[in-house]
Amino acid sequence: MTEVFSKLLATSTEKWADLNSRPWIRVSTGMMGTASGVRDTLSALQQNVAQSGIQATISEVGTTGLCYAEPLVDIHMPRGPRVLYANLGPEHVAEIVERHIKNGEPVVDIALASVDSDVPGLPRREQLPMMQHQVRIALRNAGEVEPANLTHYIARGGFSGLDKALSEMQPNQVVQEVRDSGLRGRGGAAFSTGTKWGFLAGNPSPIKYILCNCEEGDPGAFNDKTILDTDPLTLIEGCLIAGYATGSSNGIVFIRHGHDSPIERTRAAIKTCYDNGILGPRVMGTDFSFDIEISLVGESYVAGEETALMEAVEGKRSMPRFRPPFPAAFGVWGKPSNINNIKTISYVPEIIRRGAAWFNSIGTEKSAGTAIACLSGDIRYPGLVEVPFGLTMRQVVEDLGGGDPDGRPIKFLQTGGPLGGVLPADQLDLVLDYDAMAAAGAMFGSGGLIVCNDTRSVVDLVRNLLAFDQMESCGKCFPCRLGTSHLLEVLDRICAGESRDGDMNLMARIGVNLRAGSLCGHGQLGYNPVESALKNFGDEFLAQMSGNGPIPIAPFVGPLTTRRGAQANGATPTATVKLDFVVKLEPAALSIAAPEVD
Ligand SMILES: Cc1cc2nc3c(=O)[nH]c(=O)nc-3n(C[C@H](O)[C@H](O)[C@H](O)COP(=O)(O)O)c2cc1C
Ligand code: SF4
Repeated sequence: MTEVFSKLLATSTEKWADLNSRPWIRVSTGMMGTASGVRDTLSALQQNVAQSGIQATISEVGTTGLCYAEPLVDIHMPRGPRVLYANLGPEHVAEIVERHIKNGEPVVDIALASVDSDVPGLPRREQLPMMQHQVRIALRNAGEVEPANLTHYIARGGFSGLDKALSEMQPNQVVQEVRDSGLRGRGGAAFSTGTKWGFLAGNPSPIKYILCNCEEGDPGAFNDKTILDTDPLTLIEGCLIAGYATGSSNGIVFIRHGHDSPIERTRAAIKTCYDNGILGPRVMGTDFSFDIEISLVGESYVAGEETALMEAVEGKRSMPRFRPPFPAAFGVWGKPSNINNIKTISYVPEIIRRGAAWFNSIGTEKSAGTAIACLSGDIRYPGLVEVPFGLTMRQVVEDLGGGDPDGRPIKFLQTGGPLGGVLPADQLDLVLDYDAMAAAGAMFGSGGLIVCNDTRSVVDLVRNLLAFDQMESCGKCFPCRLGTSHLLEVLDRICAGESRDGDMNLMARIGVNLRAGSLCGHGQLGYNPVESALKNFGDEFLAQMSGNGPIPIAPFVGPLTTRRGAQANGATPTATVKLDFVVKLEPAALSIAAPEVD
């Protein structure tokens, strides 16, 4: 163990014990708490505790993932139980302070659950439906620690992984450990993280970068910002380990502009690491030096694509680059770089601390570890869950999510964000696994799961996804710039009851061109939602086209000409798009099957 870490550990353990010797009130003031009005609850708590004269610590923490329960307040009494109060408005605060904090008697009738010990009349936290089956690795500190508090983080095992790497392992052993763990990238493509690190480690350049992608522009995904909001120190530890393993000296964390609380908390975490010798020259007193900075990225979905991010940090428009060269050879500022999603990076400290075999023993053969899923839509318990790969989608949606709030049948799930697909309810027994889901046409992507009941129109949902894809197309290459506009034009008229003969085939042909001709994944995957919906709900499309749609579709504004993304990049307005460029490429010629429905 390094001397620096040994001292930090001793102080942190002592302070943590002291913290638990007084009443400790943790208030979830992250994005979800704030959205549900927690600031009023927090003020009332601060006021009532001050007036009561009790010496209690009030901590602001990130969400536990139980978003349906926000504002959530967690009260731990010394030698007493720890109790969670859900949906706690300021009107209940005086009673809780008087009965629970002053007199040590939990207010069971408005409490949600107890933690670590039994309280008569309350379930344990792990017995809550949404906590079933959860194995928390990347979210291990969610709701437990103040986000940028080094003491809290270290007392719960933080920086032991980095200390172990620095004091007991050679860089190549760290790369091998990550490779052996089976960790795959959580940013969408699911590529082996250890293999990718190996590419950068093999590059002898004296300047190399570790880039951490927290752009997260997918509708329905909120797991990346939640990690920043609840536990940014885990990302810093992961980046440091990646830097040591690959011989890199600089890290850049990309966060979408406007994610204010995650940005603030990450800034504070970086500062505390510099103040304590964990970042900067001679990390923890060793020969390894590493700096981290934050780069704010403009509001653009395609800016999350790895080479577009690199362009953005160089002050250019965030448009993807041609590849090769790949980032490990030519990354940001032309220097070799490795880019990982924040979830991927957040697993690394625990993999090094607990070993590759431990991580690999969780999940399925090809998808090791856990998946962090964001549950939203028609669901009783919306929020964030971390579950081992290998669970079925039904377990996730029905056991943890509680199904539809009104008991209506689930019709389908939208998975994998705007470039993903739809999974019909009769396939809910599909196992959560990268490859199984991709084979079913419903990639897991970065973890957004939007649940739709039987009142939702799949045709309208697909039109919405395509409207997003068209708006976000950066416009650099024409198959995507025109293809997404053209697809949307067809979907718009189908939804308006004005479809034309041959529209099904036309969409398939546009899809072929998108896939074959687009420069980056945005265009290459842009046809996925349509293809997956046609495969599973072709009848609904046909009914919609014949004017007998099973579900009325809300009126829309259209036909669309230019949208923000295309306009900003000087793209041709949709109205002038001609079909000529697509008809020359037939699906058979490119061996990409067109949907069978027409
Ligand atoms: C249009 C588009 C948007 C993307 N957005 C993100 C994003 O917001 N966050 C992310 O981590 N990866 C995103 N990616 C994937 C990245 O290009 C890259 O594969 C990923 O950051 C690599 O990290 P990983 O190996 O840990 O998955 C996007 C890709 C495309 C094509
Ligand atoms: S595929 Fe779309 S998003 Fe990607 S570079 Fe081309 S126009 Fe831009």
